[in-house]
Amino acid sequence: MKKILAAVLLVSASVPAWGAPPSATDGAALYKKNCAACHGATGQGATAPAVAGKQGSVVAKVVNAHPPPMDKITLTPDETAAVGRYVSTLKK
Ligand code: HEC
Repeated sequence: MKKILAAVLLVSASVPAWGAPPSATDGAALYKKNCAACHGATGQGATAPAVAGKQGSVVAKVVNAHPPPMDKITLTPDETAAVGRYVSTLKK
């Protein structure tokens, strides 16, 4: 019981107090939804090349050009920029 309580406390402590839901421009959520399947959860590469640490503007350029098989991606300019910023923060 003590262990369960500790686990619950740990989990609630890691949730930000303001608890804002992920917004449309949450790069991490957008990446997970639109890119992770091919580029890996942490941008380490999977069926597609690694993208971790790439410059945000470079990533946005590629996404906007959407070469196959990325031609199914439809992100707004804001979302594209957010994904780019997120990818650039990933560790190689
Ligand atoms: C359906 C699989 C798929 C999805 C989904 C996908 N990609 Fe890609 N992506 C690829 C493949 C395959 C390549 C390599 C294309 C090539 O080299 O011709 C690529 C290339 C790239 C490159 C260039 C990498 C390099 O080294 O030149 C970037 C940057 C990139 N993707 C970012 C993204 C982002 C950001 C998303 C999400 C918005 C995304 N991709 C979603 C398959 C995918």
